[in-house]
Amino acid sequence: MKIPLFTKVFLVPFLSILVGFGIISVSSQCLADQKSLLLQVKRNLIFNPSLSTKLVQWNQSTDCCSWEGVTCNTSSNSAHVIELDLNNESISGCLQNSTLRSLSGLQHLERLNLAFNNFNSSQFPAGIFSLTNLKYLNLSTSGFSGEFPSSIVNLTQLVYLDFWTNNFSGTISSIHFENLVNLEYIDLGLNSLSGTVPSSLFALPSLRKLFFSYNNFHGSLPNFTDTDSSQLDTLYAGWNNLSGSVPNSLFDLKSFSRLTLSHNKLTGESKLQNLHRLKNLTYFNLSFNNLSLDPRHDNSSSFLPPLLKELKLASCRLQEFPDLRHLPSLITLDLAQNQISGDIPNWIWNIGNGGLQYLNLSVNQLEKLQEPYVIRNLIWIDLRSNHLRGKIPLPPKNVYFLDYSNNFFSSRIPTTINLTAAIFFSLSSNRLSGTIPASICSATNLQLLDLSNNYLSGNVPSCLFEFSDTLGVLRLGNNSLTGNISGIFGNDCGLETIDLSGNLLEGHVPESLANCANLEVLNLGNNRLNDSFPCFLKDSPRLHVLSLHSNAFHGVITCQERNGSWENLQIYDIGSNYFTGNLSQNFPVWKAMKDGRNDVNVLGFEFPSFGNLRKTYQDAVTINIKGKRLELVKILNIFTSVDISNNHFEGNIPDTIGELTSLVSLNLSHNSLSGSIPKSVGTLKLLETLDLSMNKLTGKIPVELGEISFLEVLDLSDNQLTGKIPTGSQIQTFSEASFQGNKGLCGPPLHINCNRIPVITAYDDGDLGDTIEWEFVAPEVGFAVGLGIVILPLMFYSRWRSFYYKHVDNFLFKFFGIRHQKKNIHGRIRSQGSRIQRAGS
Ligand SMILES: *[C@@H]1O[C@H](CO)[C@@H](O)[C@H](O)[C@H]1NC(C)=O
Ligand SMILES: *[C@@H]1O[C@H](CO)[C@@H](O)[C@H](O)[C@H]1NC(C)=O
Ligand SMILES: *[C@@H]1O[C@H](CO)[C@@H](O)[C@H](O)[C@H]1NC(C)=O
Ligand SMILES: *[C@@H]1O[C@H](CO)[C@@H](O)[C@H](O)[C@H]1NC(C)=O
Ligand SMILES: *[C@@H]1O[C@H](CO)[C@@H](O)[C@H](O)[C@H]1NC(C)=O
Ligand SMILES: *[C@@H]1O[C@H](CO)[C@@H](O)[C@H](O)[C@H]1NC(C)=O
Ligand SMILES: *[C@@H]1O[C@H](CO)[C@@H](O)[C@H](O)[C@H]1NC(C)=O
Repeated sequence: MKIPLFTKVFLVPFLSILVGFGIISVSSQCLADQKSLLLQVKRNLIFNPSLSTKLVQWNQSTDCCSWEGVTCNTSSNSAHVIELDLNNESISGCLQNSTLRSLSGLQHLERLNLAFNNFNSSQFPAGIFSLTNLKYLNLSTSGFSGEFPSSIVNLTQLVYLDFWTNNFSGTISSIHFENLVNLEYIDLGLNSLSGTVPSSLFALPSLRKLFFSYNNFHGSLPNFTDTDSSQLDTLYAGWNNLSGSVPNSLFDLKSFSRLTLSHNKLTGESKLQNLHRLKNLTYFNLSFNNLSLDPRHDNSSSFLPPLLKELKLASCRLQEFPDLRHLPSLITLDLAQNQISGDIPNWIWNIGNGGLQYLNLSVNQLEKLQEPYVIRNLIWIDLRSNHLRGKIPLPPKNVYFLDYSNNFFSSRIPTTINLTAAIFFSLSSNRLSGTIPASICSATNLQLLDLSNNYLSGNVPSCLFEFSDTLGVLRLGNNSLTGNISGIFGNDCGLETIDLSGNLLEGHVPESLANCANLEVLNLGNNRLNDSFPCFLKDSPRLHVLSLHSNAFHGVITCQERNGSWENLQIYDIGSNYFTGNLSQNFPVWKAMKDGRNDVNVLGFEFPSFGNLRKTYQDAVTINIKGKRLELVKILNIFTSVDISNNHFEGNIPDTIGELTSLVSLNLSHNSLSGSIPKSVGTLKLLETLDLSMNKLTGKIPVELGEISFLEVLDLSDNQLTGKIPTGSQIQTFSEASFQGNKGLCGPPLHINCNRIPVITAYDDGDLGDTIEWEFVAPEVGFAVGLGIVILPLMFYSRWRSFYYKHVDNFLFKFFGIRHQKKNIHGRIRSQGSRIQRAGS
């Protein structure tokens, strides 16, 4: 109902004046002692007066029953405070004992709301237990912590109890909830509670709504006995550690309307058909347990509750589609991560009489869409990771999220596709051919456009670069796109990721790219771009990844000043181009590579939430490391790599290289670098890959190289290094190939005896490290030297090393999600325990 504006402006104050008089005249004044108690409460609470709307107004000169947040009992002559509502009053700090004493003086209090404040991890205020008339207690999101207050069951009048989002811990298994005979609503969600959920909680005679998602509860669900008298209509038990099977008696609780058991460890077999007993069920979520759901049913045509609005059965080992034809109200259907194969039946698009809005069939083995079909009304469609082939299905014009990636769709991208409402559109990793239709640019709300890994050809429509500022991620990599990057990135360019790698693009990098001030990932690798270094990108302060790998970039790089503006640059790959110049004069030293980063966020692009759904898009970038092309699906902020290999750089490797202490991978190979290897490389403690091969390096191998304990790949071959390979350190655990092609090197692992070569350089800098056989000394020294106690001596034994790496690898895999892309086994790689192989398997 619309209230005309003038009525609001004139009538409302008038009404409230009337109401105000009403209270004052009908009820007697707030009792003096209560007023002073309330003022004491106010005095003792720390709150922000500029954010508070209630407390800040309380003062001596007015009747306390008229104060915001205070309600008095007006039915009797002496007005008692029965409700205190201080929700969202920016209260901070602990609840003082004095505050509690004042509170507990309000003996008639029935409703207390302290939600959305920050009581700074204080314990549960025990003073509340003396408020024995309390019916309503809301402490949600108020920053309490400590042991769950078991005495809460003394408040036997309680009807409503809300502890959502605090940090209460401990077990509630032995708490006598059966005392709370009046309780209708209890929310314990998002705390740190553990133990089993006491069955007395489920058996409360008045309980309608029970929430305890997001805790650490374990054990099984109880067998429900009083199913006929139970009032329970809502149970949220998701995101715990519940085990055992789904009790059959659960399906006898006929009043259920919302039931969520997702993300637990429930096991066994369950029949979807059981749901038909829950006639009032509207929301059901059984996703992500460890159970097998049988979708078959006896011949009844409507075997599922007809009111069902949301059905989530992801990861339930379903092998076929349940028959969902008779669900007139279904809005959300999630059957992701099951084992459904064959066709997508065409009735699915008519579910809910076309009212279905969310459909998730991702990660199944579906092969095609049963014809004929028309996709109606869907807003979210996720068909990712199936075996779908043929033409890509045309989405309805209102589609908001569309993911067809990782299938075998092989058509062209239809020019008629209407994406005006879409924010997410991915067709990546299919077999699409033809050109990118310019009509795609009418999708002005897109935040992500991913057409990578297909067989698309032709030019990139220039309008794609002139897209609205909403587009954050543009991925067109690994196609066969040709022509120039023509188009002008607008002043309001909002792109964070641009991946055009692995195409046949030519010409220049447009300078207007500098307009994309939020750019984090720029991957132009493996194209035919012919340009000088894009110095104009220096003003992209958020750049994390820059890859120009394998193009025809050339000339001297003039803009790599020390500590330049690329504070966040982590991956710098300009390998396999025609850059020239002296490396020592302007070697890049960027902050992220120098100081590392403590935060371990992955680069991501977050989408606005839509209902409860969120999607974080992880950037992926392909880089050359350890001799293999790898795709880093998630770029961990602590991962840094520099590849300037295969160019025409000359001069010395600067000492400043030692400042890049966060560096994990360094490839300077295939250049014309001269001089010796600086000792400062020994300070690159996190280095795992070092490739200096195919240069003109001279002098001895610095002993310091042996101090890099994580070094897994070392290539010094084809230089002019001389002298004995330092012994005793782990350097010797690398194979001969790491040192080949250096005429003057001798000693193991090379089969060249140093005595046979007139080693002039061996003693020239008086470095004794060379002459002591560290191999035998190291264990003893190791035990005496702090950090090296266990790790370092063991490092010297290659077998242990590979064991160690195996475990480190597992760790890294979890975080980096490194995927093996091409098998290109390089002779110099130490392959045992290689993370790459396992990750690929
Ligand atoms: C007391 O509060 C009322 C509003 O609730 C306000 O109008 C009045 O000015 C306040 N008096 C004092 C002394 O702060
Ligand atoms: C508050 O009272 C409790 C006992 O009720 C006592 O243990 C605690 O020390 C008191 N805290 C302060 C700050 O006085
Ligand atoms: C969940 O239970 C398993 C055993 O069933 C246990 O190993 C694991 O630590 C538990 N996880 C949590 C978060 O309590
Ligand atoms: C089902 O819902 C209706 C309407 O809300 C209600 O009247 C009825 O009592 C409910 N049935 C059960 C078994 O709870
Ligand atoms: C899943 O359940 C099976 C038994 O049904 C058990 O062997 C397996 O360990 C469980 N998996 C997990 C991840 O809990
Ligand atoms: C579909 O389900 C998968 C697996 O649970 C999930 O990762 C994905 O985010 C879902 N898609 C949408 C659009 O919610
Ligand atoms: C270093 O770069 C060269 C040339 O780009 C490549 O062949 C080699 O495999 C890379 N080395 C490592 C260890 O990745």
